[in-house]
Amino acid sequence: MCGIIGYVGKKNSLHVLINGLKRLEYRGYDSAGVAFINKNNIEIIKEKGKVAELEKKIDFTKESNIGISHTRWATHGAANEINAHPHSCEKITLVHNGIIENYEILKKELKQKGYTFYSETDSEVVAVLLNDLYKENDIIESIIKMKKILKGSYALAILCSDYPNQIYTIRKDSPLIIAKDSEGSYVASDVPAFLEYTNKYSILAEEEIAILTKDNIEVINNKKEKITKETITFEGDINSSQKDGYDHFMLKEIFEEKDVIKRIMKDYNTFDKLIEKMKFLDKYKKFDIIACGSAYHVGVVAKYLIEEFANIPVNAEIASEYRYKNNFLDKESLAIFISQSGETADSIASLRKVKAEGIDTLGIVNVVGSSIARESDNVIYTKAGPEIAVATTKAFVAQLTIVTLMSLYLGYKNKNIKKDKVTEILKELDIIENNIDKLLKYDYKEIAKLLYKHEKIFFIGRGYDYAIALEGSLKLKEISYIHSEAYAAGELKHGTISLIEENTPVICLLTDENIIDKTISNIKEVKARGAYTIGVSNEEHEFLNNNIIIPKTKRIITPLLEVIPLQLISYEVAKLRDCDIDKPRNLAKSVTVE
Ligand code: F6R
Repeated sequence: MCGIIGYVGKKNSLHVLINGLKRLEYRGYDSAGVAFINKNNIEIIKEKGKVAELEKKIDFTKESNIGISHTRWATHGAANEINAHPHSCEKITLVHNGIIENYEILKKELKQKGYTFYSETDSEVVAVLLNDLYKENDIIESIIKMKKILKGSYALAILCSDYPNQIYTIRKDSPLIIAKDSEGSYVASDVPAFLEYTNKYSILAEEEIAILTKDNIEVINNKKEKITKETITFEGDINSSQKDGYDHFMLKEIFEEKDVIKRIMKDYNTFDKLIEKMKFLDKYKKFDIIACGSAYHVGVVAKYLIEEFANIPVNAEIASEYRYKNNFLDKESLAIFISQSGETADSIASLRKVKAEGIDTLGIVNVVGSSIARESDNVIYTKAGPEIAVATTKAFVAQLTIVTLMSLYLGYKNKNIKKDKVTEILKELDIIENNIDKLLKYDYKEIAKLLYKHEKIFFIGRGYDYAIALEGSLKLKEISYIHSEAYAAGELKHGTISLIEENTPVICLLTDENIIDKTISNIKEVKARGAYTIGVSNEEHEFLNNNIIIPKTKRIITPLLEVIPLQLISYEVAKLRDCDIDKPRNLAKSVTVE
């Protein structure tokens, strides 16, 4: 959600902080702020809106070698300058990512002690609380005490005016990483924030406190014992967080999808490699796939593929529901958590819940070393590289590639797909870029022109076509703000068909040849009510108003191709509507609150 970057070192901190915030802006962009120390004074500058607005207010000639900063995704209180971080109280200034669940009661107690609050945020309560505890005059001791009092999730970077050369950081259920180079020390929510200076970093654990100075980062535990941290090397390069000439990160990331699949396929492109990598699945007779948003849609595709090809029951579940309900897993079950960020609060909570019940867990995760990756019993990395656009595209395709390979393996293991067929499918996946190139060349602008002025658009399909329709619809609505719904084609007539009027666009996914006749009947039902129908299928259908042709490939691979035109249509529609494509309103990349 929110993004944090703090720096202490030889460089001008204002440059480091603003550059870092720009790279973290995908995490939140309601407002932004910095606090820096200039001649022993803590100065705070905040602004509503994007980092560029904040930048305009900053005098970069001011000397400062230490500061903390924040880009906000509002939870408590409107997006305005007062609610923007940093928040301060007397000697304490801090930035916060997460949600403090007991902030109301704490606020009441602190008000009774005479403190005044200026913002509506839970974060200001943390600053006031720490300031109050600090009156006992040991900042580390005060932070340890504060950790015992706070309930909820937090990543905090803290300045204390009595120690103008130090930044203190702690976290619980919100990510925070620390890094050091010859020029100073950094703390951030995510690697891109400091990637132009160093690609080496460490992950701060929940029970740790890091104290950053210009020459050193000391990490201690709650008993003040020193801890040696493992250093991780980030595998992408700085270019992965640049637009590289594309108008938007989203477009760049869609064009990277074929490389992402290629990268994954290096580990799976022969029968033997597939068996070696996936044989850990053998002992499981049932799967629950738990995720949010687009990652959940990958789970829905996986359900269709695994149930059809392997004849094994799969539940695809939304994490925010799953965490509060009963599951019916046992020792022969695997709970699979799909997540780009690996930090999605509801997915992490569901993971912890099933782990506590002794159920085996697998994370399918993009961000290396993230919470879901660390806490799952087993992890498969999706290797999509950093995804900057808030709407996921290449990470979705990477997740889909992994679940396709899992379905293929399970299909073989359960004797539904023969060895030579497996090899054939792997070969086809290995050269999928030829088919993707054909799809990328298509003129989606023309389709977008037909759609962008409409107020509602429907997506329909059956089987895995329906699962991909869910994703197409989400992509369209989140970046273009057109109301869109995805329906199982046969379900529309049970109520929603009343919304179809003359010229209502319906995007019809009909690649699944096993059920195409049924889908065609449903399309005719909407056509009869005036719908403008756009087909996404393997062949031209005359009864449709428009056709997008997906190159014919093996059935199990088709969802991977089919989603690409839908991503590009959403992109072009959002462009025609002049939307902020990479940073859609109200959204954030990493949803670290419940
Ligand atoms: C939509 C989108 C979201 C995420 C969801 C889960 O484009 O990106 O729906 O898929 O918030 O996030 P992760 O995958 O990080 O757990």
